[in-house]
Amino acid sequence: MSPTTTAAAPSRRTIPGRGLLDLIAGPHGIDGYLEQISPTMVTGECRAEVVAVSRGTDDSVTLSLRPNRAWRGFRAGQFVQVSVEIAGVRHTRCYSPASPEDAGRELEITVKRHPDGLVSNFFADQARPGLVIGLSQADGDFHLPDSRPDSILLIGGGSGITPLMAILRTLCAEEYAGQIALIQYAPDPDRTIYREELDRMAAEKPNFRLARSYTRAPGAGELDGHFSPTHLPQADPSFADAETFACGPPALLDAVRGTWANGLEQRLHVESFVPPSLLPIGEPGTGSIRFAGSDLEVENSGASILEQAEKAGVPAESGCRMGICHTCTCRKVSGTVKNLLTEEVSAAPDEAIQLCVSAPLGDLVIDL
Ligand SMILES: Cc1cc2nc3c(=O)[nH]c(=O)nc-3n(C[C@H](O)[C@H](O)[C@H](O)COP(=O)(O)OP(=O)(O)OC[C@H]3O[C@@H](n4cnc5c(N)ncnc54)[C@H](O)[C@@H]3O)c2cc1C
Ligand code: FES
Repeated sequence: MSPTTTAAAPSRRTIPGRGLLDLIAGPHGIDGYLEQISPTMVTGECRAEVVAVSRGTDDSVTLSLRPNRAWRGFRAGQFVQVSVEIAGVRHTRCYSPASPEDAGRELEITVKRHPDGLVSNFFADQARPGLVIGLSQADGDFHLPDSRPDSILLIGGGSGITPLMAILRTLCAEEYAGQIALIQYAPDPDRTIYREELDRMAAEKPNFRLARSYTRAPGAGELDGHFSPTHLPQADPSFADAETFACGPPALLDAVRGTWANGLEQRLHVESFVPPSLLPIGEPGTGSIRFAGSDLEVENSGASILEQAEKAGVPAESGCRMGICHTCTCRKVSGTVKNLLTEEVSAAPDEAIQLCVSAPLGDLVIDL
């Protein structure tokens, strides 16, 4: 995961003569008319229609999406921002497509239920063919390099299998001749996302080794327990030479990072789905935050501006909550902020900041 990925603003596809068409069409532009025919016909904004829904496990749902013409495709491993309206409010979350990167105009995402999670449970319970969702262009630097490495090791836990599935399916579609190994962690066989397809691939592809550990069903997989360096030689004897992609819960990623810390770091690529715990900075009550657009002022608690806005009931959009998707970017009118990930301090007026990873140092005015 990289906190420095570029913004994934909704795309605006350029069509020749569009400016003239919009002028003739009036205040809502040509998209205003196209939207009346079908919500995915709009040309200026990326959207997708759910065309199929399947439930591979009890706690996950797989959606096949057909994006409109604004969609520019993705690289295996990247993520997209998905927006959906629930009870009249638009919510945005990041999901990593699991389909191969050359899948034409279709795209697949698999969403795992989170206890009390809003969007994941909405999709799990209510996603139906015909549902139209907002889509950003793909983003993120967790992806297969253009020049394919000779050997690849994938380590995935829970829903973290999704970007790895995109990588694996892409390599299979390309008839990749190098060595691929996947170590998959899941609670038990019934809650193993993409289990049957992965079993089939392992049976059919001589260059693909699959090893699983079921953390709540010891003895049921090839490996046992949570990630341990001892799993590596069992799953992939040449792991030290492999380009490694890991995605899963924070504890798994911490253990993997620790193992690759001895000079192998440059071969390790890591993606986290979970925001880090960002501790408040400074003393509570050091200054105040004025939400200019809402005409509201609160005492600064030192937490991220996003958390403070949510606590004060000020509507603020968010996606990843860890500084990678830019959904929360907002104009700071005045004041000083500290980036909670990089510790960088900035006092420039009128600058765009990411609310989820910025905390105020003293008085702040924000355009929210
Ligand atoms: C780059 C990236 C790629 C991702 N790809 C995938 C993917 O392919 N598949 C996938 O399943 N997920 C993926 N995610 C995670 C996904 O974006 C969402 O975070 C996830 O679906 C949960 O969203 P939600 O709306 O259901 O939960 P939210 O409503 O956002 O809640 C998140 C968690 O906070 C807890 N919570 C909610 N409200 C409260 C409260 N009031 N008090 C205390 N706790 C609370 C919930 O219990 C839940 O566990 C990805 C994330 C990132 C950053
Ligand atoms: S950068 Fe994604 S919510 Fe802030």
